[in-house]
Amino acid sequence: MVVKHKFGGVWTRKKLVILDEYLKFYTTALKNMPFKLHYADAFAGTGSHDPVIDGEQNILIPNEDFRGSVLTALSVDPGFYQYHFNDLNPEHVEALNELRKEFPERNIRVSKLDANRFVPKFCNTLGPDDRAILFLDPYSTQLDWDTLSHVANSQKIDLWLLFPLSVILRMTPKDGAKVKPEWKSTLDRLLGTSEWEEALYKKCEVPVIQDLFDELDQELPIERVNSRELQQWVTERLKQIFPYVAEPTVLKNKGSPLFLFYFAVSNKSPRAHGLADRVAKHILKKNFGD
Ligand SMILES: C[S@@+](CC[C@H](N)C(=O)[O-])C[C@H]1O[C@@H](n2cnc3c(N)ncnc32)[C@H](O)[C@@H]1O
Repeated sequence: MVVKHKFGGVWTRKKLVILDEYLKFYTTALKNMPFKLHYADAFAGTGSHDPVIDGEQNILIPNEDFRGSVLTALSVDPGFYQYHFNDLNPEHVEALNELRKEFPERNIRVSKLDANRFVPKFCNTLGPDDRAILFLDPYSTQLDWDTLSHVANSQKIDLWLLFPLSVILRMTPKDGAKVKPEWKSTLDRLLGTSEWEEALYKKCEVPVIQDLFDELDQELPIERVNSRELQQWVTERLKQIFPYVAEPTVLKNKGSPLFLFYFAVSNKSPRAHGLADRVAKHILKKNFGD
């Protein structure tokens, strides 16, 4: 039985349209180069999904399956030398294995690993003639920051990443006194450092007059920076490990930010960055217009 996968909304469609356009550009641009091209999807899903699109967003809901990232990648022509699909859910893995029958001409590998184990393993398999695109599309807090270092160190992978902005905003309330101690280790893992507290929380400004009369040792409340500043901090951290990172697109649901959609290149060549920059800007502008 084919398992359907319910998630997402309009933003889901947008990210898949962008992925589709980049994959087409990539396999066409590199088709005459002496490289073996790989597509890797660490949170692969089932191949397709039923979009859960809210009527308020004024979008017609087609009564049919939408292609997820896996079917999007399998449909690209020219295709990839090899496809690497990974998911932790056994039903999803079963559905991914079924796709081998539907696409007998495609070279498909399926695995059932935690994505944080799959990614370093995949990176280690890449030889000098291999080049790859990796799609990291977690539901929420599943991806460890350290996993990204393996991608950056490969120097062979172009990365499309969904970074869970809304979860980070929820775990770092405006009022610093309300950060729950049990969230701290998750934030350390997601952000790859425990220095987020110093970076994201600032002492509140106190009016000068009040400041003069207040007790000297009074503790000032601390407040989180705004969403835009948090985004800039994450982008700067990514730039410390990847030689090229495009400005992220904010994927929203009914106006609320959900994910930062990043494109990063691990190849160190400035020529590769120039091309990546032009293509990413073109695709993102065409689909988001900002
Ligand atoms: C947002 S969905 C992926 C959707 C897919 N990219 C698509 O476009 O069709 C996230 C997937 O990650 C899987 N998943 C959750 N935790 C995981 C983990 N730690 N490692 C690998 N896969 C995981 C879920 O089973 C789910 O299929």
